[in-house]
Amino acid sequence: MAILLPGGAGFIGSHTAVELLNAGKEIVIIDNFSNSKPSVLDAIKEITGKDFKFYEMDYLDKEKLEKVFEENNIEAVLNFAGYKAVGESVKKPIEYYTNNISGALVLLDTMRKYNCKKFIFSSSATVYGDPETMPITEDCKTGGTTNPYGTTKLFIEQILKDIYKSDNTWDICILRYFNPVGAHESGLIGEEPQGIPNNLMPYIARVAAGTLKELSVFGNDYNTPDGTGVRDYIHVVDLAKGHVKALEKLDKENAGLYIYNLGTGKGYSVLDMVKAFESVTGKKVPYKIAPRREGDIAMCYADPKRAKEELGWEATKTLEDMCKDSWNYIEKHR
Ligand code: UD1
Repeated sequence: MAILLPGGAGFIGSHTAVELLNAGKEIVIIDNFSNSKPSVLDAIKEITGKDFKFYEMDYLDKEKLEKVFEENNIEAVLNFAGYKAVGESVKKPIEYYTNNISGALVLLDTMRKYNCKKFIFSSSATVYGDPETMPITEDCKTGGTTNPYGTTKLFIEQILKDIYKSDNTWDICILRYFNPVGAHESGLIGEEPQGIPNNLMPYIARVAAGTLKELSVFGNDYNTPDGTGVRDYIHVVDLAKGHVKALEKLDKENAGLYIYNLGTGKGYSVLDMVKAFESVTGKKVPYKIAPRREGDIAMCYADPKRAKEELGWEATKTLEDMCKDSWNYIEKHR
């Protein structure tokens, strides 16, 4: 029995592959390397000392996907093959809706054909839009996404709820990620954004490394303690471990549809992140205050209680770990 990971060579997929292998699971990765590199596969093997099957292919290719199901006894699917760049999604909505939504549908249809009904979906805190209360629980209202990327997450959540309603033998877990950062402590795998990063942590890391001149802090007049945006940054290894716990839950419970926030419950501002990064690395991170970024919200952090109670999972790594491991990865890959 194997776990299928479409997009398993990407940032979150590769860290989850490591944790699944460490937990003794058999995995199969499929990836088209649209936002990752083949060398990641060797790094996963080096970290874990374990081997796995790999197919270079697009997960929208139904014929090839069926072959993967024919050749392997797939018991569950964790989908990491979604596109995730907010700005790009505004410019390329057709590509985003096709890859994320059609891709998920091809996958789910193929799973049904092979009677594989365990599915873990990588969703995002973006589905909460501009939340009315903080911290955010899973019962908070969803909707009001401001870009096609976020809307694909919202739509796929709805598709999964409808699938479960039509056939309650499915085991579905929706994981709403907060802000994943950091890298594996080995420095062998990490986040490799193409071009200039949009997200805060990779941007800060490149300023510290001298590749980018200075950070633009998008707004310092928000209703937050220091006026800059507050987010719930979570170490990618903690996040990856959350998937292993979610899978265990689906393995032992009766079928169901579950939704969990994966966050730390702590909020840090943009300036907190700058300071933490400077103190861990000893490097200066020059910044300037810039106008607010369109679509941004003041604050977003999780209430992670449900995941703790029902999955027995909680984030254990500190902000210091997140900065240290990001920096270690950058230093090893410059
Ligand atoms: C963004 C996405 C979110 C996605 C998540 C994935 C937007 C509006 N939202 O979340 O849908 O799920 O990434 O990780 O893009 N900041 C700066 N300067 C920068 C970059 C960021 O000040 O150069 C600030 C932002 O204004 C924000 C914070 O840093 O307050 C975090 O930004 P970012 O890392 O882009 O994440 P989110 O916007 O929370």
